[in-house]
Amino acid sequence: MKKKKRILTGDTPTGSGRLHLGHYVGTLENRVKLQKEYDTFILLANIHAYANYYHKGKEINEAGYQTFLDNLAVGIDPEISTILLESAIPELYELYGFFLTMVKKNRAMRNPSVKDEIEYKKLDASMAFICYPILQAADILGFNADLVPVGEDQMPIIEQVREIAKDFNRTYGETFVVPEGKVGRVARLVGTDGSKKMSKSGSNAIFLSDDEKTLKEKVMSAYTDPKRIHATDPGKVEENPVFIYHDNFNLNKKEVDDLKERYKKGKVGDIEVKEKLFKALNNFLGPIREKRRYYEEKPKEAKDILVEGTKKARKVVQGVIALFRERVNINKLIE
Ligand code: TRP
Repeated sequence: MKKKKRILTGDTPTGSGRLHLGHYVGTLENRVKLQKEYDTFILLANIHAYANYYHKGKEINEAGYQTFLDNLAVGIDPEISTILLESAIPELYELYGFFLTMVKKNRAMRNPSVKDEIEYKKLDASMAFICYPILQAADILGFNADLVPVGEDQMPIIEQVREIAKDFNRTYGETFVVPEGKVGRVARLVGTDGSKKMSKSGSNAIFLSDDEKTLKEKVMSAYTDPKRIHATDPGKVEENPVFIYHDNFNLNKKEVDDLKERYKKGKVGDIEVKEKLFKALNNFLGPIREKRRYYEEKPKEAKDILVEGTKKARKVVQGVIALFRERVNINKLIE
């Protein structure tokens, strides 16, 4: 039997650690779909989370648990996929340390993902933040992953990871798999406030774990077409967050088409559009909430998944790193 190809992907547990609809269409959906076909590893990237928040150890730990639950809730199946805690695999730090020697300062500073994030979040970035694509290279190459499902904003990072892999292979001979990135069906999902991106830290996100009441409040106060004042004014459906969500989460396409037609003619009010959206989203989130509750009520079972997953993952990384050590002659003097 041909060996399955491998997926490595993950999430940085910053803020509350809870994942939202943007994560779903950007990467979660892909991981769930591909987990049968690929040997899948999901990394709780807690070392990444410390990058600008070294003083928030307690919060990062709690956020990590929420990120973990959300992965299970959307349908990552612990029977076939492996979820692991990044910090418990010290070999990843070892690879990171080596890769730091390979990347020039100017190259690191030029990464658009890093630059945009610093600007967008107005960060006084730490060294670790500037170098986070290099840590990400350790995550991905440490598993010899073939495929990395990520949001569009992460693609320049995958590019940098590929450069590191190629550079290493050129220098020391074939060692690492050069991975491919894979973006989900929506590159970037708008926020409920109409801003370009739904953000984990911001107040413009609909979280996968939002309860019915919270969901309703968020949907009913979401931004629509700002130029439309009365329900009888013709409205714009493009770039309108409420219709973008309808397009992505309402399975009743006929209903969506009908709402769009009427909206464009000024024949439907925002309230009806939003009430129907609330229903669609609530249906979508129902099974996710249910699975989350299952694990919330069985913390021991959940923890075992992570403990066992991390153990299994560490063995995989140890296999990869053995060849790396050999190639660079790193411990030869004591062997
Ligand atoms: N940096 C990624 C993010 O913020 C999370 C991440 C860390 C990751 N390590 C990874 C994603 C390895 C894919 C592969 O979304």
